[in-house]
Amino acid sequence: MLNLISQKISGKFVLPLVEGGKGVSISNGETCGAWAANDAVGTFSAVNADSYDEAGNVIPQIYHGKTREERRRELIEYAVNGGIAQAKIARERSNGRGRIHMNALWEMGGSQEIITRILEGAKDCIHGVVCGAGMPYELSEIAAKFKVFYYPIVSSDRAFSALFRRSFKKCVEFLGGVVYEDPWLAGGHNGLSNAESPTNPMNPYLRLVNLRKVMNSFNLKYLPIIIAGSVWWLSEWADYINNDELGNVAFQFGTRPILTTECPVAKAWQPKFMALKRGDVKLTRLSPTGFYSSAINNEMLADLIARQERQAPIVEQSDLKVSVFGNEVCLDESFREKVSFWTAQGFSAAMLTPDKTVVFVTPEQSVSILQSQRNCCCCLSACRFSSWCQTKGSTGRIPDPRSFCIQRSLQEVAHGGNLDENLLFAGHSAYRFAEDPFYANNYIPTTKELIERIQTGY
Ligand SMILES: Cc1cc2nc3c(=O)[nH]c(=O)nc-3n(C[C@H](O)[C@H](O)[C@H](O)COP(=O)(O)O)c2cc1C
Ligand code: SF4
Repeated sequence: MLNLISQKISGKFVLPLVEGGKGVSISNGETCGAWAANDAVGTFSAVNADSYDEAGNVIPQIYHGKTREERRRELIEYAVNGGIAQAKIARERSNGRGRIHMNALWEMGGSQEIITRILEGAKDCIHGVVCGAGMPYELSEIAAKFKVFYYPIVSSDRAFSALFRRSFKKCVEFLGGVVYEDPWLAGGHNGLSNAESPTNPMNPYLRLVNLRKVMNSFNLKYLPIIIAGSVWWLSEWADYINNDELGNVAFQFGTRPILTTECPVAKAWQPKFMALKRGDVKLTRLSPTGFYSSAINNEMLADLIARQERQAPIVEQSDLKVSVFGNEVCLDESFREKVSFWTAQGFSAAMLTPDKTVVFVTPEQSVSILQSQRNCCCCLSACRFSSWCQTKGSTGRIPDPRSFCIQRSLQEVAHGGNLDENLLFAGHSAYRFAEDPFYANNYIPTTKELIERIQTGY
């Protein structure tokens, strides 16, 4: 057994083990409650979470509004009802033990309203709010209003420093800790800055030491750092535990808890995860949020990656002309052979991108892209795929057919949709399911068994 020291998290001493929040509906009230019931920290996702009808069936999130604004309001209502429902389930399942955290994406559409209304509706159920994907400056004020703890997710000391100086220093009392998410290793959206290279990962230890130094300089010496990103066997992190340079730490698991009996997608996703090999999870910049993200290289991702290659620059004049929805566009002459090849392969529909290029897709894909853009329900504060922008109505850029509707894809994949044709977020250690004897013979542990196992160091 490892000598794990309990940490005071959201006002209570608990195991320093944290469930990583996973939208859409991958970590929910059931998973969160199970982590909490085992004296750890559970995290349900408040990103368009499921709500239920009177018979207990999931209410499908179907949009009836004709305008984007109408659909945006529908989305917010679904999200608020879902968040409250999951928080209540988490409290029920926790038996009053552990801690219950809510995870939200700061850049989700209507994030401040959604977080506020969930905290209003499920106030006594939630001990902490965890927020990443963006710079959640106003998070501290919202949390303080409801007297719950807040946890920014950062990937560098610089990001935390900016958040603290500008806003968190005014509400230090409710700052519960800092989640450090390794931008090269963690599943889901990744906080790589423009100065960092996706192919040049940096040592997490050094980045954590820098984060601790910055936290110490703000008198946050005892506040825990929650380490996330490819944490699998804690025996491999022994140097990080009881380490004076790092101070109090806890560990967050994102991918590993997907294969637990409480996780709603465990059975459906298991064959995919058990078949993964090292390198099957890719770090790309295809998300409509504009952030990097890590997902399984399935058919959908492979198609989007290939789509990036099927691009030709637009020029003022040339003899190489294509029709884009009836308008003639001149392309760089040197792409003639490639364009013929792509067209012959069936990628005959040309679509404009915001970067003065044309991308080639199949006619069916072109129809589906336009349909998805038209159906936009404003799940993000700004979306490069549909050009939706919460503050201005439009980003002012051409909708980008090289991206995709993340809302549609994540909803589908969480509710029985095709695992090859939708986005499957995963951390870069997901291949370890196949190698770890704990999962031999396709065993799916309970959360209790997983937490006990983690404490052995394996
Ligand atoms: C399927 C999936 C969905 C995720 N969704 C979110 C999310 O909605 N919000 C968030 O802050 N992090 C999200 N994450 C990140 C996790 O909370 C966690 O920090 C990360 O997965 C840790 O890395 P690991 O997967 O290597 O353990 C997601 C991760 C996965 C695998
Ligand atoms: S098009 Fe963009 S903003 Fe609209 S629902 Fe899809 S991902 Fe969300």
